[in-house]
Amino acid sequence: MLQKEKCFCLKGSQCKTAATMTRLILLTGICLLLIHFGSAYQLICYFTNWAQYRPDPVKHLPANIDPFLCTHLIYAFSIINSANQLATYEWNDVTLYQSFNSLKQSNPSLKTLLAVGGWNFGSTQFSTMVSTQANRNTFIQSSISFLRKYGFDGLDLDWEYPGARGSTSKDKGRFTLLCKELRQAYEAESSATGRPRLMVTAAVAAGKSTIDVAYEIPQIAQYLDFISVMTYDFHGSWESFTGHNSPLYQWSQETGAQIYLNTNYSMTYWKNQGAPVEKLRMGFATYGRTFQLSSTASGLGAPSSGPASAGTYTKEPGFWSYYEVCSFLQGTSVQWIQDQKVPYATKGGQWVGFDTKESFDTKVTYLKDNKFGGAFVWALDLDDFNGQFCGQGKYPLISELKKLLNNGV
Ligand SMILES: *[C@@H]1O[C@H](CO)[C@@H](O)[C@H](O)[C@H]1NC(C)=O
Repeated sequence: MLQKEKCFCLKGSQCKTAATMTRLILLTGICLLLIHFGSAYQLICYFTNWAQYRPDPVKHLPANIDPFLCTHLIYAFSIINSANQLATYEWNDVTLYQSFNSLKQSNPSLKTLLAVGGWNFGSTQFSTMVSTQANRNTFIQSSISFLRKYGFDGLDLDWEYPGARGSTSKDKGRFTLLCKELRQAYEAESSATGRPRLMVTAAVAAGKSTIDVAYEIPQIAQYLDFISVMTYDFHGSWESFTGHNSPLYQWSQETGAQIYLNTNYSMTYWKNQGAPVEKLRMGFATYGRTFQLSSTASGLGAPSSGPASAGTYTKEPGFWSYYEVCSFLQGTSVQWIQDQKVPYATKGGQWVGFDTKESFDTKVTYLKDNKFGGAFVWALDLDDFNGQFCGQGKYPLISELKKLLNNGV
């Protein structure tokens, strides 16, 4: 029994009562628990099933994933087939699902989700699937058997976007129905089987005009476990002036609708439209977007005529992985955009806006100040995952992101 009046004297400090000591010990215990389990911020990392086709040393497979790097892994992408069922896309997805989900044997607290859709899949098949109760039900029931069969913990909806690219304005309400019915079906399955409920999440647009057409924000936020706002691809070689892929803030020279094209605007918009901050996940990019300069000007907003040359490994014009940016930085220096808190680099008439450990640092401070529930990153395979290009170790950007979210632990 603790005696209430008994004092414990600490070196160089005043006496503390037993009750105070008990509180201190409890607090210390809680602190140790927090350190043990990591921070409360989630770190959600996307895996892509096409990075397997890149050449060595950047061919990326589930075996290249550190099971302790992220709290959640999302496998991109699966599709919806013509019978409105969730289905594989790549010839070897089932094999990859097995190695992907077996990462949970090394880290039992790791969660895995399967993403359906993506930019290239587009909008049409989603639109058909949500168009009737029967089609939605087919999809939802197929998703339960599919996710359970392969050992995923949830489904990530990557419909780009409801109400756009071959989807009608009716799909705004139908997307809400899809979220609601998925949630209800997953709850029912959990009750019936006693298994933990499957998660339902979504990757959503960051652009104001797309958001306004696509989502009933307060409603979908009720049903989704988390909402990943794709706060990147704000600028790219489809425009005729250089601009950053993922600026944190607006640039002072922007006017009109340009002022919407930054992370702060998008995250604030989602919040103000009724998404609870703890459900919002802010997007981080491990790639940059490139431009070919069309004059001697080489700053932000300089005239451009299209994409810079395609990356040696990623081979997609307008887009360089972080490891390709590292190679480009040889022989030039990193420039900092003060207003937007992100870097760019330029050399030989080419321009790239990208992210570094420094820009991730500022963005994580912003994320915490605004109490968003975590970060997600596109994508695992675009970081210098084997550490052979940047001289900063393996997964330098995502490791930094993890460290920053965990307060440097
Ligand atoms: C962030 O966005 C909000 C809402 O759009 C705006 O009021 C605020 O000034 C922005 N912050 C900065 C530093 O640009």
